[in-house]
Amino acid sequence: MKIGIDKLGFYAPHLYVDMNDLAKERGIDPGKFTIGLGQDEMAVPPITQDPVSLAANAAEQILDREDKDAIDLVIFGTESGVDHSKSAAVYVHQLLGLNPKARSVEMKQACYGATAGIQMAKGHIALHPDKKVLILASDIARYGLNTPGESTQGAGAVAILVSASPRLLELEKESTYYTEDIMDFWRPVYSSTAFVDGKYSNEQYIAFFQKVWKDYQEQTGRSLEDFAAIAFHLPYTKMGWKALRTVMEDAPEEVQERLKNNYQISTKYNRNVGNIYTGSLYLSLISLLENQDDLKEGDTIGLYSYGSGAVGEFLSGTLQSDFKEHLQTAAHQAMFENRECISVAEYEKVFEEELPTDGSEKKLNIDEDPAKICLAGVKDHIRSYAVK
Ligand code: HMG
Repeated sequence: MKIGIDKLGFYAPHLYVDMNDLAKERGIDPGKFTIGLGQDEMAVPPITQDPVSLAANAAEQILDREDKDAIDLVIFGTESGVDHSKSAAVYVHQLLGLNPKARSVEMKQACYGATAGIQMAKGHIALHPDKKVLILASDIARYGLNTPGESTQGAGAVAILVSASPRLLELEKESTYYTEDIMDFWRPVYSSTAFVDGKYSNEQYIAFFQKVWKDYQEQTGRSLEDFAAIAFHLPYTKMGWKALRTVMEDAPEEVQERLKNNYQISTKYNRNVGNIYTGSLYLSLISLLENQDDLKEGDTIGLYSYGSGAVGEFLSGTLQSDFKEHLQTAAHQAMFENRECISVAEYEKVFEEELPTDGSEKKLNIDEDPAKICLAGVKDHIRSYAVK
């Protein structure tokens, strides 16, 4: 029985800041951001977009009525959820009009949450092959103005539909994973911005990759030659390359060239969005599938997932026939083309705008946000959403 990814949707807010502008404003050589980190643009969420609305917008573009009736499990991977108690999945379940006979839960382990969701979905589909699982990976990455992490912020969501008739990627049974209690990046419940030990987080990302990749080779007998491409969790687009190049030395030259070329293609969308935490790896997969014409049925794609704190996993899948026809390439390109570049001063103003936390009412101007689903306001500590 096949189990895998049937559809992939992506949504980023309509505002972004140019990394050259941000560098100049911060007195930094722009090359540090565009070459050193590999980031050209950074998505900026207006106050009318939160992780719930971002996820709902990503899912809305891929689901038809048949999907909505067949989904009986909604898993929301996030580390910027809007409530300590109620899961963001329940809000999205309602906003999309999904079948009420469903389970809805939130999954947390930094950027790894959606991968945990995918593995849980595989088990669910194995037991219920006629059902579908919706996985949402949605986050707003905030480190704070003028901090070293500022250049690696971003916002966006990926929606992943898992089923027993996957039209994009059949997920393989083998995967290797690793957990170790480390403090490389974390966000205490009282803080709206993350704390990070930047250099240490880079080192641990690479160390975890080397561990799970070694285990994967031992478990499967595979080597780099067996992969058409490997997509990575991308906190910034140089990061995955820093890890991949550490294991490339013994691979034949043409394999190194192929993986390097496909790695660059897999970073295209992330370069213009920034870190979206749980969705970053899957945005990189979308970027690869939508922008590389040489991939074909049967090709094996590797996926490296990393969530600080930390958990790492290496998983893999094989491309299905005609997968190109089931991507949202045109819609995603249109979304990028219709975004608006804002100045650093405007970005700072948007960054500092916050919802009341004292129960008072705030109605938001959703007319300025072109998204179909928006956060419309808050009253008595309850968020309300609008579907236009
Ligand atoms: P930094 O101190 O601002 O930058 O921190 P740097 O001094 O390390 O420089 C960055 C790169 O730019 C270096 O390249 C420089 O040489 C280069 P490298 O040597 O590393 O290859 N550079 C230049 N290149 C061209 N022209 C120039 C120039 N100047 C310098 N003029 C850091 C950067 C990423 C650490 C910081 O932004 C940060 O702390 N970000 C947040 C943490 C992070 O993203 N960590 C990544 C791994 S952890 C992870 O992936 C998990 C995460 O997603 C969270 C989760 O799981 O939930 C973050």
